Amino acid sequence: MISKIYIETYGCQMNFADTEIVMGILKNKGYEVAKSIEEANVILLNTCSIRDNAEQRIYGRLSNLKNLKSQKPDLLLGILGCMAERLRKDLIEEKKIVDLVVGPDEYRRLPEYLDVAYSGDKGIGVRLSRTETYDDIEPYRENGLSAWISVMRGCDKFCTFCVVPFTRGRERSRSLNSVVQEIQRLSERGFREVTLLGQNVNSYSDGENDFADLLQACAKVDRKIRIRFTTSHPQDLSDKLLFTIAENPNICNYIHLPVQSGSNRILELMNRTYSIEHYLNLIDKARKIIPDVSFSTDIIAGFPTETWEDHFATLEVMKQVRYDGAYMFKYSPREGTKAYKMGDDVPDDVKTKRLQEIIDLQQSISYQKNQELIGKEEIVLVEGFSRKSDEFFSGRTDTNKVVIFPVEEKISIGDYIKVKINKATSATLFGEFVDFYYYLEEDSLKCI
Ligand code: 5AD
Ligand code: SF4
Repeated sequence: MISKIYIETYGCQMNFADTEIVMGILKNKGYEVAKSIEEANVILLNTCSIRDNAEQRIYGRLSNLKNLKSQKPDLLLGILGCMAERLRKDLIEEKKIVDLVVGPDEYRRLPEYLDVAYSGDKGIGVRLSRTETYDDIEPYRENGLSAWISVMRGCDKFCTFCVVPFTRGRERSRSLNSVVQEIQRLSERGFREVTLLGQNVNSYSDGENDFADLLQACAKVDRKIRIRFTTSHPQDLSDKLLFTIAENPNICNYIHLPVQSGSNRILELMNRTYSIEHYLNLIDKARKIIPDVSFSTDIIAGFPTETWEDHFATLEVMKQVRYDGAYMFKYSPREGTKAYKMGDDVPDDVKTKRLQEIIDLQQSISYQKNQELIGKEEIVLVEGFSRKSDEFFSGRTDTNKVVIFPVEEKISIGDYIKVKINKATSATLFGEFVDFYYYLEEDSLKCI
């Protein structure tokens, strides 16, 4: 019997990209993708440890799946991803729910661990590697328009709140050539957008090329493919990278640049290695070099010892930068990190209040910024019908905003078009087709 695998993915985009790598590895060994959980012989959860609520969700899901397993005794249940190393004892020994636990650097050996689990033992592989990049593995992807490509793994920054350096290990990068070849294959399959992923993409290095070189090479493969990337660390965002974005029309003018806090005292306790002055200068410089650039950020509310003054400093920075979007979180202590030892002295109701203020402020900034786009033209990749009606298409701008516009016969999914914006909420833009759009070759751009 052919084993059918069903993978549920939680957490960040890196995990979604890893799931495609895992499916690539398993398909090479003859496994098939299960279309639904009911037809699966193996269920794998690709897990996230970044905050406690992410882990609690997985525990909740596992207790659901326990029922399924009692009805179907041959079913194998496995944990992949960031929870593997941290919680293997708990998951396998104490809870006895799962048959295999495989961490992010051991996916190549997943077929072996599955064999171990089939023979009735527990398949456990949680070692981290200094070299594994899965460079040679072709991820399994359904046809589509957008693809994630992980270009580096791990993180060496050791922000004091973050568990990633412990769950995903040291930084290491794929070769530039392998990434370029992957984009070439995606281009042949009709993909129109790729997002280069890494916990800290700006420290990409394959020994010869830095991240700006990689972006440049990726952008040249097919000008009909637009390139996104995430996540950038404010310490490593070089001028060369900013110029590379400015010079290549198909590199999105959009930078996800987590600030985390607006207070220098908190930034220092977080080991973020930059001051807020450095951060704001960087934003100014990027806006000069790339005139239409927009920014999104990550913010943590209620880091240990955070006062109301520190919190107000965060709100101030948000007003100054006017982010297009933000991912906003309550601080969650993670065992093993430096911040864990600092205690968790901001009470939960205070964290909730600060987080709500941050969310409200961002919502009003997003609303204002979107209102300012009314009457302007945006370049949009047509992605499909809108969720609410098939009389409307939905797509996203360069700066990752969702745009809804009426279906017209001449427009096809996968086209780049110019849309004139005529209405906006804080989350969505509405508009109408103006013209088709073609990203220009670099040389012709210079002639303009
Ligand atoms: N608590 C809350 N948020 C966290 N993040 C990382 N670790 C924690 C934590 N312990 C947030 C940071 C990071 C994003 C991916 O998740 O803002 O940039
Ligand atoms: Fe975590 Fe900091 Fe690395 Fe981001 S840069 S993954 S927040 S340690």
